[in-house]
Amino acid sequence: MNSTIQKNFPYKKYVIDSNLQYFKPHSTKIEKSFADEVSSSLNRSSKFIHPKFFYDKKGSELFEKICELPEYYPTRTEIKILKKLQSELPPYLDDSFRLVELGSGSSVKTRLLLDIFARFQDETEYFPIDISEILTESSELLLRDYENLSITGIIDTYEGGLEFIEKYDNKKNLIIFLGSSFGNFTPDDGKIFLQKISSFMKKDDLFLIGLDLVKDKETLEKAYDDSQGITAKFNLNVLSRINDELDADFNLENFKHLANYNAKDQRIEMYLKSLVTQSIIVGKSNLSLQLHQGELIHTEHSHKYTLPQIENLMDTTGFEIKHIWLDDDKNYSLTLASKTEL
Ligand code: AVI
Repeated sequence: MNSTIQKNFPYKKYVIDSNLQYFKPHSTKIEKSFADEVSSSLNRSSKFIHPKFFYDKKGSELFEKICELPEYYPTRTEIKILKKLQSELPPYLDDSFRLVELGSGSSVKTRLLLDIFARFQDETEYFPIDISEILTESSELLLRDYENLSITGIIDTYEGGLEFIEKYDNKKNLIIFLGSSFGNFTPDDGKIFLQKISSFMKKDDLFLIGLDLVKDKETLEKAYDDSQGITAKFNLNVLSRINDELDADFNLENFKHLANYNAKDQRIEMYLKSLVTQSIIVGKSNLSLQLHQGELIHTEHSHKYTLPQIENLMDTTGFEIKHIWLDDDKNYSLTLASKTEL
């Protein structure tokens, strides 16, 4: 990093050893607290809880289980496509690329990409970006298995991390955003997010994004309402989290998990349905909540796309598509793109 950049660099560096370092902003942006967000999202006529709150320790464990369910096809299908990329991605890369991941992974998916890099690089650099310090744990796991790997973790928002990388040096980056996490954004927020990514990319950087495809209602609804009830537990767990962290008294027995496919808006909509008329106190949000029987609390949207929509989305957010890979059944997609040249 050159000295001019270093001066204007609002990050503190933590060196753990020769192949592991982290950067963390000096001051974290002031975000609305969990209590404030829950207070405003439940204190309105159409109630919701933001899906980012699913992922406490228990919620993250349940999500790992979801990824292994027979009905939840996205994870194993994405892995299948990544296996195909072992031979098909290298022509787009060269020795000077590093891997940048939005969200941190110790999972099989990150490993499949690191395997690709290891085949044509003596040393590989991996930059995970995650708001949670969990990336420190996953980095250590990866270093146990990859000898010639060095990791620079950026503990910040995706946008903050991408700005960091843009200013950091002139190396080429392959930025990956897997798991169809993009589908959880609203269409407007998603577009803004993609525009930010392309604006932070350098001319030779590449972006690889995993997006789930439109398919029949039955397959989709089973994927989000599995026979073992794991997705139901995942959805209901957000109420346990609010009970534990915000002194609330939700009785989970009084709620039912719902997952409906809205074909018009091409999205799975997840809700918690109140089975009775009930009052709930959320102590730390200063909230006394009345729910009538049948009332819905919206918890997640998971958007699905067609190929023309993916092409249009990338085109209108500053990307030029290099290739779209699909699985044999056309259930899921991985799109590789560069920044549109001006
Ligand atoms: C994290 N995200 C991409 C998952 C999805 O498929 O929308 C979250 C999820 N919710 C229920 N099952 C999985």
